[in-house]
Amino acid sequence: MWKGRFQVETSNLVQAYGESISFDWRLYPYDVEGSIAHAAVLQDAGILTKAEEKEIAKGLREIKKEIDAGEFEFKTSLEDIHMNIESALTEKIGDVGAKLHTARSRNDQVALDVRLYCRDETNQIHELLTGMQSALLKLAQNHPEAVVPGYTHLQRGQPVLFAHHLLAYIEMFERDKGRLADCYKRINVMPLGSGALAGSTIPLNRKVAAEKLNFPALTQNSMDAVSDRDFIAELLFDLSMIGIHLSRISEDVILWASAEFGFIELSDAHTTGSSLMPQKKNPDVAELTRGKTGRLTGNLVSILTTLKGLPMTYNRDLQEDKEPLFDSIDTVKIALEVFAEMMSEAKIKEEITAEATSDPFLLATDIADYLVLKGVPFRHAHEIVGKLTAYSLNEKQAFQQIPLQQYREFSDTFEDDVYQVLEVKTALKARKATGAPSPGNVNRQISKWQKKLEKKDSL
Ligand code: ARG
Repeated sequence: MWKGRFQVETSNLVQAYGESISFDWRLYPYDVEGSIAHAAVLQDAGILTKAEEKEIAKGLREIKKEIDAGEFEFKTSLEDIHMNIESALTEKIGDVGAKLHTARSRNDQVALDVRLYCRDETNQIHELLTGMQSALLKLAQNHPEAVVPGYTHLQRGQPVLFAHHLLAYIEMFERDKGRLADCYKRINVMPLGSGALAGSTIPLNRKVAAEKLNFPALTQNSMDAVSDRDFIAELLFDLSMIGIHLSRISEDVILWASAEFGFIELSDAHTTGSSLMPQKKNPDVAELTRGKTGRLTGNLVSILTTLKGLPMTYNRDLQEDKEPLFDSIDTVKIALEVFAEMMSEAKIKEEITAEATSDPFLLATDIADYLVLKGVPFRHAHEIVGKLTAYSLNEKQAFQQIPLQQYREFSDTFEDDVYQVLEVKTALKARKATGAPSPGNVNRQISKWQKKLEKKDSL
């Protein structure tokens, strides 16, 4: 389709090296949609008659149907999706098809296709994130009273409601949704009409295409428009961040599902066995998700490295944007789906989490707070409770078992009411500030999310 000035055929090796049809074929619905919009622009500019525009649109829709049905033969010799479709159109409707590429280059065409694709996929991922949040919420609602030790440094720290731990992930995924919504604004700009790099001498009303394709804005610089892939880099960052959040839950799930923790039971449907050890029930979904995050991060680095050092404007390097983009989108979508399914069917083993939370040392901070509320400066209180902890360990006596006289050896501020502090329920109830895990707060958060997630909130 560009061989006018060439005398020698493209080498087979170069064809194999340069083709992108093996992966960009999946842009076909967007390529067709974009071309129909371009035909409308050409009609508006007087290049096509109304009848010709119609014929082109009809031919393109037929081609789309053929591809949908798996009846279209993609040709490597035609390099990419754009030339495959255009060539099929001309075969189908003759010379009218040959008018379609007027005032257009594959440079603005591919920029448009990828934006349309990203727009669709970003919307879908936004919805899948809501699905993931709903699955976590359901798990929290199924176990509203389950308690669990909260950890820092993977050492037991302070007691929390299990629901509070799950709500933490819901917050993370909400930020991911916010990032996608923000990126969406920069995806949602229409580049068609930028031509190869300098627009066209044919007077185009680009707004005609923008309206047809539902874009609220037009790109404002033709050179930038054909070479801008910032939105892909941004999206790949957002997807990496989603992956990193999923990988962090994966790590928790893997720990929780181990015999050492035993906090959670995953459904048989979401675990696998070992070909050698009959007793095994492995959390493969979580492990795979943790593993796939490596690829997501790799894809981000890949696009950033491709973009670095490109002179203006379009360079063929940009063809390398697609495989990492497609891979990250596919990976995040299936990971969110499978994870949501797994979490909504998981069970928290409440006796075991309660047992772990009965570790008296989880209340050490609360004893220090008790002293503070009676006027002891926190640093002194911290030291007193540190000594009390050493005593408890040496004497093998839990805080609850240590008699009051003994408490008073450490500080005469201790009184009878210290034993009230030594209850997990009291400890939770007292944590009332915004964001803290008192049962009242957690319940309010659960109802808030319930309402919020029910609302359809597409981008
Ligand atoms: N397959 C190319 C890509 O994905 C399409 C644009 C080709 N443009 C060109 N001037 N060779 O980037």
